[in-house]
Amino acid sequence: MMAGIALSLNNARRNALAEITSAEKSTLYLFDSAIISAAPSNIKKIDSNTFKLRQLGHMRHLKIELVDNKGHVLDSNQAAGAGKFSNEAPAWFERILNKTMPQWQPKIRILSISNQLLAKLIITPDPTYEYAEIWKQITDLMVLLAMFFFCVNLMIAWAIAQALKPTETILSALDEIEKGHLETRLPTFQLPELARIGQKFNHMIETLQQSIFQNHQLTQQLITLQEAERKSLARDLHDEFGQYLTAINTDANIVLKHAKTKYPELHDSALAITQLSRHLIDLVSGLLQRLRPGVLDELGLVVALQDLVDTCATRYGNIAFTLNISHADDLGKETLGEAESLVLYRLVQECLTNISRHAEATLVNINVSTQLKINKRGITVKVQDNGKGFNANKVNGFGLPGMRERVEGLGGEFTIEASSNKGTTILAWIPLRAQL
Ligand SMILES: Nc1ncnc2c1ncn2[C@@H]1O[C@H](COP(=O)(O)OP(=O)(O)OP(=O)(O)O)[C@@H](O)[C@H]1O
Ligand SMILES: [Mg+2]
Repeated sequence: MMAGIALSLNNARRNALAEITSAEKSTLYLFDSAIISAAPSNIKKIDSNTFKLRQLGHMRHLKIELVDNKGHVLDSNQAAGAGKFSNEAPAWFERILNKTMPQWQPKIRILSISNQLLAKLIITPDPTYEYAEIWKQITDLMVLLAMFFFCVNLMIAWAIAQALKPTETILSALDEIEKGHLETRLPTFQLPELARIGQKFNHMIETLQQSIFQNHQLTQQLITLQEAERKSLARDLHDEFGQYLTAINTDANIVLKHAKTKYPELHDSALAITQLSRHLIDLVSGLLQRLRPGVLDELGLVVALQDLVDTCATRYGNIAFTLNISHADDLGKETLGEAESLVLYRLVQECLTNISRHAEATLVNINVSTQLKINKRGITVKVQDNGKGFNANKVNGFGLPGMRERVEGLGGEFTIEASSNKGTTILAWIPLRAQL
C-alpha cells in the first residue's frame, strides 16, 4: 500500500507540475498577444472590464490579478468565489507537496502608455487545486487498497481455515487415542500431505494396538504361569514337605514321651525337635495359604475373603478392617468360576498387602457386591482406605498393573481412585461367567 501510494503520489506530482507549467505558459502567451495587439491609444482607462478576469474563474491552476499603479487589485479570476472548489487537501499534505515542487515566482506584465505605468497583470501559479485533486486520488486509492487488503485477507483466512479443517479431525482422533479408544482411525484427507499424515497415523495406531494386544497376552500368560507355578509349589509343599514334617513331629512326640521316663538325657533334644517341627508345620501352612489358598478351593470366595481379612486384622492390629459382602449367594462356585474367584481373592490380597506396606491407614473398607454393567451381571470389589494416597499415574511395582491385567483378562474393569492425602480406592468389576 505504501509503495503504491508513493508511486501514484510521484506521478500525480509530475503531472501537476507539467499541467501548471503549461497553463502558465499558454496564459502568458495569450495575454502577451492581447496586450501587443491592443492599440495603446484605444486604452483610455484600465478597470475590471479591461480583461474581464472573472470570466477566467475556471482557470484554477493560475491566480491572475490586475493591479493598478497604487497596488489595488482591480480584477482577479479568483474574485467573488470564482473558481472556488470544495474538498481541499489538508494543510500538512500541501506542506509536504510544496517541499517537492519548485518555488513558483509570479510572472508580471506591465501595462503602460508613454512610459506611464497604468497597471500590472500578475500571474501566479496556484497548485492548490492540483493538490486537492492529488489528495482525492490518493484517498480514493487508499480506500480501494484497504478494501482490496481486507478482501484478500478474508480470502486467505478462509483458504487457511479450509486447509486446516482436517487438523480438528486429527486433534479429536488424538484425544480419543489418549482416552484409550484405540479403534479410532483417521479418514483419507484430500490434501496429499495430510493424507500421508492420516496413513502414518492409522498405521501407527494399528502397530500400537498390536503391541498392546501382545503385551496383554504376554501378561496373561505370565499370570497363568505364575498361578500354575504357585499351584505346583503348593502341592509339593503340602504333599512332600508337609507330610514329612508331620511325620517328624509325630515321631518326635513319641520320642519325647519315652524320653521323659526312659532316656531323660534325650528329653531336651526331643522337645526341641517337636517344637521346631511344629514351627515348621505352621510356617508351611502359612506359606501354603499365601501360595494357594486352600480355603478358596474348599469353602469358596466368601469364607476365603473373611479368612484373609481376619488374618490381616490379627497381623496389623492398628488398622480396623470391615468386610461387607452383599448377595453372597452369587459368589458360590456355580456362578463364579475358579479363575474369577482366584482373581478377586488375589486382588483383595494385593490391596491389603499394599495398604499394610504403603498406606499408613487406620481404616479399611472392603465391599463386595453384584452389579449390572452394559447389561452384564458382575461382581464389584471396592477396597477403600484412609491412608496417604499416591499418584496413580506413577506406579513402579508389579502389584497394581498385575491386578489390572488379571481383571481385564476376564473382561472386567479396573480403576484406581487415589490422590495425595485423600486415601485410596481400588475398584474392580468382573463379569459373572454364568449370567443370571
Ligand atoms: N493403598 C495404597 N496407599 C498408598 N500408596 C499405595 C497404595 N497402593 C499402592 N500404593 C503405591 O503404589 C505403588 C505401586 O503399588 P504396587 O502394588 O504396584 O507395587 P508395590 O506394592 O510397590 O510392589 P509389588 O510389586 O511387590 O506389589 C506402591 O509403591 C505405593 O507407592
Ligand atoms: Mg503391591
